[in-house]
Amino acid sequence: MHDKIAELRKKKEIAKKGGGDERIAKQHKQGKLSARERVELLLDEGSFEEIDVFVKHRSKDFGLDKQTFYGDGVVTGFGTIEGRPVAVFSQDFTVFGGSLSETHAEKICKIMNMAMKTGIPVIGLNDSGGARIQEGVVSLGGYADIFLLNTLASGVIPQISVIMGPCAGGAVYSPAITDFIFMVKNTSYMFVTGPNVVKTVTHEDVTFEDLGGAETHSVKSGVAHFAFENEIETLMNVRNLMGYLPLNYRDRAPARPFKNGTIKKDERLKNIIPDNSGKPYDMKEVIRLLVDEEEFLEVQPNHAENIICGFARMGGLSIGIVANQPSVLAGVLDINASVKGARFVRFCDAFNIPLLVLEDVPGFLPGTDQEWNGIIRHGAKLLFAFSEATVPKITVITRKAYGGAYDVMNSKHIRGDFNFAWPSAEIAVMGPKGAVEIIFKKEISAAKDPEVALNEKLAEYIEKFANPYTAAERGFIDDVIEPEDTRVRLINSFQLLKTKKDKNPGKKHSNIPL
Ligand code: HXC
Repeated sequence: MHDKIAELRKKKEIAKKGGGDERIAKQHKQGKLSARERVELLLDEGSFEEIDVFVKHRSKDFGLDKQTFYGDGVVTGFGTIEGRPVAVFSQDFTVFGGSLSETHAEKICKIMNMAMKTGIPVIGLNDSGGARIQEGVVSLGGYADIFLLNTLASGVIPQISVIMGPCAGGAVYSPAITDFIFMVKNTSYMFVTGPNVVKTVTHEDVTFEDLGGAETHSVKSGVAHFAFENEIETLMNVRNLMGYLPLNYRDRAPARPFKNGTIKKDERLKNIIPDNSGKPYDMKEVIRLLVDEEEFLEVQPNHAENIICGFARMGGLSIGIVANQPSVLAGVLDINASVKGARFVRFCDAFNIPLLVLEDVPGFLPGTDQEWNGIIRHGAKLLFAFSEATVPKITVITRKAYGGAYDVMNSKHIRGDFNFAWPSAEIAVMGPKGAVEIIFKKEISAAKDPEVALNEKLAEYIEKFANPYTAAERGFIDDVIEPEDTRVRLINSFQLLKTKKDKNPGKKHSNIPL
């Protein structure tokens, strides 16, 4: 027995080396960790239990039968984050460049199937040259098997992709189907076709970084949700995100202990909204003062900054926040903001995370660029996502709630559970000046002094509509509350809504405008 145990240990030692010390050293030189080092950092210390260590590829072509490595380029298994179980795969670039073979794909599918059966999240650490070229279509089939499982697992368990090296060709579509994509600045990239193909087809000269680096995808394209300076920071933030999420769609996100009597009123909240309603302010300041410990994990912080999405806790409960940002484009809703908000709302709804909406929105962005690119279709996504969501949904209107955007941002009419407004709220079809110039056009131009007439009508309109009380008279707003009481009201409301049950009519699936 002792000999056999020694043999097992020896084999596992060889497996741990992946493609060998030289290739691991090359990886380190590039500022990248090895597949196993990444797993160790991601998971609770000592919690990782690997499976399929001894799997090897079955290929014979192009001399592959003479090159075999234990594990075949991917480390798979299970471990814990803050004591909660997760399934993990980590591609090993030191073995055939982390390329995906038939057996490599089978290993990933095995842990995904187990994750779905047991209801635990899957985290994929991607570092791969794509399909294993020597295996041809077999490798493409392996990718398709993963895509199918990603799709079937969507909405069942959270799926997180971390891009820590190349991710090219169709390989990008597995991460794209998952819920969140993390990227590492300067060492990871994602694209459908690389710079050489781009040059041949479109004659554009572009670098790897510009085409598909972390900056490109976290700012311009919106493909990535998070981008961090290095691998350690990235993995620590994956752990942080996991703390806000449930293990599966039947589970609830972990709650932190919280004593109700300890909620403090924060007077700073009443000084944030400027007296002049045309002046911007930073909605992130409002968020910071409302949530527990001033902790907010922002999703896509540098993409479509006119809408803010992210996770926080209120009264210990995990919540998703969607907020207009008056300091960027006046908080207007455009195509990118609508798509960003809609996807976030749908994630929260799929995984029982209550939603808080902070609203200060002048409407949808006008113009040919937006219309020709489909603001109608994309804006409808946000409307659809809020309407369909059955999780607890609370809105606080801090200032403007104009036009269609009033309806869209979780109004009472689309099943907002509690709709509050601050006294500074202006709930109307449009802003006072624009409205008055349309409805009193004749009176103003016929008046002796048009400017005096305009100001009179403006005062009349503001008195009647640019306030929260007309909406409150109808019950569209449940209460007008003082800013400093908001945190207390929200915590109490989320507690009340913990037992909320609501559902949508039976159907195969809805047809969100894509
Ligand atoms: C087999 C591969 C490989 C691949 C890399 N290697 N990619 N082996 N299949 N796809 C091997 C190399 O032969 C080398 O082996 C080792 O991995 C490291 O590769 P290098 O080229 O030395 O590394 P580097 O200079 O860092 O360049 C990394 C790279 C480059 C940019 C990823 O390797 C590359 O361009 N690879 C091909 C990428 C690609 O076109 N893949 C197919 C995409 S299409 P040794 O033995 O020397 O260490 C696709 C379809 C999926 O993926 C479709 C799904 C629907």
